[in-house]
This record gives sequence, structure tokens and C-alpha cells, in this order.
Amino acid sequence: MSDLFDFSRRHDEYAVMGNPIAHSKSPRIHTLFAEQTGEAVHYEAIQVDPGGFSQAVGNFEASGGKGLNITVPFKQEAWELVNERSERAERAGAVNTIKFVDGKLIGDNTDGIGLVNDLTNNRIAVKGGRVLLMGAGGAARGVLAPLLAQQPAQLVIGNRTAEKAKQLAEEFSNLGQVEGCGYDALEGKQFDLVINATAASLQGELPPLPDSVLADGACCYDMMYGAEPTAFMQWASRHGAAKVLDGLGMLVEQAAESFYIWRGVRPEDKVGDRKATQRNDFVASTLEINAEDAKAQRTQSKKIIFGIYTNTDRLEPL
Ligand code: ATR
Repeated sequence: MSDLFDFSRRHDEYAVMGNPIAHSKSPRIHTLFAEQTGEAVHYEAIQVDPGGFSQAVGNFEASGGKGLNITVPFKQEAWELVNERSERAERAGAVNTIKFVDGKLIGDNTDGIGLVNDLTNNRIAVKGGRVLLMGAGGAARGVLAPLLAQQPAQLVIGNRTAEKAKQLAEEFSNLGQVEGCGYDALEGKQFDLVINATAASLQGELPPLPDSVLADGACCYDMMYGAEPTAFMQWASRHGAAKVLDGLGMLVEQAAESFYIWRGVRPEDKVGDRKATQRNDFVASTLEINAEDAKAQRTQSKKIIFGIYTNTDRLEPL
């Protein structure tokens, strides 16, 4: 009997917890992953009140839940709550993925690998490049170790509060060549990749970058995503960036990694009868168009699939 008609088939329960959560794209993404891989997964969004996080996690586990994604503002609380942490979660100081194993909460963080995978999908090389990471808060911390693992020639953390950038760089200095500074110290320097991990986009603002900071052929990446290009993305286009990307691909990639942690199956490994190596194939399979077209239409496709242009005009953090 095919799974489709097997009504006794039970689904494993997963959810994302955060506040606010109504606009989360995660239920849509994981439902598509489940359909694509044939995994018996049900995934919902749960809004949690401040102060109620650990109880909400306990209730979810007690009701038979198998795993959780955690988003703003509970990632640090999740880090404290879990019984064990992966090395990357330990480093990130934040947990965005929990798996329940034999009564234990195992915490992981897939944000950084999500960014690196999306850069790879878009053929943006970090290895050997000069990388500027803007911001020194939780979002920047979460991606630092995976970025350094790619061995950039140089990684500079630029931040409004220079001291915070310097401290963060110091903390990660055993993983590679990394330094921190304020934006004024970037005058005269050039970078091949500029990543915005600040919260500035949420307020429609732009970090005060010197005009000449982009090298020839530079790429710009905003970890936020939304209906319209962010202020940083608009700045990047005006200043001649060769590629300008938002954080939607990162959102999909971090979700894929969480799905793998829970299910042991990578969503892109099974698309119809063939192995897919690119997320473009996932996009293609969902839209029923061929992979070449999907590549060309990638940005637009993502926005259609995840309803970015249809159900929200807000900017979203991961
Ligand atoms: P998150 O978890 O999203 O990283 P956070 O830990 O509060 O949030 O950090 C926010 C980051 O965005 C910080 O690096 C902050 O700079 P400061 O450390 O100087 O406060 C940066 N940020 C927020 N608003 C900004 C703006 N309008 N311009 C530039 N940087 C901004």
C-alpha cells in the first residue's frame, strides 16, 4: 500500500518556537522537505510567551514531539536549556535546533552552515577571499566559526561599537585570521565579500560603510530577507556589487541541515528518481520546471515557493 493511502501512518511532530512566529516560513519549508523526501514529518509554528520557554519545550517533548527549531528571541535560552551541545552550537552561543534523544535535549546550531551552503550554491567563494562581516551580535557570532573554517585570506568584523567587534574577534582568533574594528577603520580597505549580520536592515537602516569598500567583482549578502531589497542590498547594487543576495537561501539551507539532524535524510538527496546536488533542483522539482530554468529563476522561485511576496511585507530575521 502506498503511504498516501496508509491512514494508520503516524507523523513525527516537530515545531519552531519563537515570538513573534506568525510569519515564520519554517513550517512551509519543512512541509515541502517532508513531501520531497517522503519522511513522515508534521511541522508547526508555536508562539511562546517570554518566560515560558523551558515549560513550552517540556510540554512539547512530553506530548511526544521529536525536535524543535528555535528562533528569536529564545536561541540563547535554548543554549542554556539543552543537556548537550554540538561543537558549533557551543561556539555560536546559541541553539536553533533541538533533537530529543532518550529523554535528553541535544542542541545544535545550523545557521552558520546554512550561510556557507547558500554561498556555495551561489558560487561565492570564501576561501582565499577578503571577507567583511558587519555586526558583532548573536547573528554574527553564529556564522563566524563556519566562515573561518572556509579559510578566507582575511576576515574583518566591522561594528558600530568597535570594542564589541574586537572582543568577538579575540574570542575566535584561535580559528583563523580575524580582526575587529569600527566602520571608520574600514576606510581604504577593500573586500570580496561583505556580509550584513547587523539588525540595521530591520529598521531600514544601513551600517555606515565607506563608499570604496567593495573590491572589483565583490559580492554582498544580507542575512535578512523580505519583500523588497534591504537598505544594504540597495546600497550594494548602487556601488557596483557583482552579486547581491538576501538571506532567504540561508533560511532554506539552515532548515535543510536541521531536517538532516532530525531525520538523517538530506532534502536535496531525493528529488523524484534522481539525486539532486543543487538546491536549484529542489526549487525546480517544486515548481515542475527544469533545473536550468530554475537556476535562472532562482530568486523569483524562492520567493514564490516560500510566499515571500504574497503573505508578508515585513523584513524577517532568521
Ligand atoms: P542579533 O542577535 O540579531 O545579532 P544583537 O545581538 O542585538 O542582535 O546585535 C545587533 C547587531 O546589529 C549589533 O552588532 C549592532 O551594533 P552595536 O553592537 O554597535 O549595537 C548592530 N546594529 C543594530 N542596529 C544597527 C544600525 N542601525 N546600524 C549599524 N549596526 C546596527
